[in-house]
Amino acid sequence: MTETMPILYVPSPILRARAKPVGPGDEDRVRVLAEKMLATMYAAPGIGLAAPQVGEGLRVVVIDVGPKDAPTPLVLVNPEVVAQSMELATREEGCLSLPNMFADVTRPLKVKVRFHTLDGSRRDIEGEGLLSACLQHEIDHLNGVLFVDYLSALKRNMILRKLAKELKLKRE
Ligand code: NI
Repeated sequence: MTETMPILYVPSPILRARAKPVGPGDEDRVRVLAEKMLATMYAAPGIGLAAPQVGEGLRVVVIDVGPKDAPTPLVLVNPEVVAQSMELATREEGCLSLPNMFADVTRPLKVKVRFHTLDGSRRDIEGEGLLSACLQHEIDHLNGVLFVDYLSALKRNMILRKLAKELKLKRE
């Protein structure tokens, strides 16, 4: 079994930093990283994980929004939203870096994302519903953006205070 990596929680500074693009020569490192990220995501359990959440400032995201009994892992290297619908959708989101915190987030209903596979080929993926929200949420992580940034300051601060309190209790 692939080893998992510790997940970083807010307010870890790397969660607020812009991740670096994966470049030529990074392939082997990224292949190993993606394997570990998938193992970490499934163990959590979660449906998406971005490299900064495990302390790696690289533009790598893993996602699996498939059913539990049929894993459909997706690894996106240097993903980028290239098109989005005008129509919006609101769904409840959570994040492995803000454990047990959930809130409704409004985003474009559909997105088209361009990315590279682990083999370096370029692909497009179009998502709607859960996949769309997940793609946007994970790509946000690469830019230091968290789902709470879409909420009112009041709601955001409420969640961040609650999280800080829970994490403190966990450490004690
Ligand atoms: Ni997240």
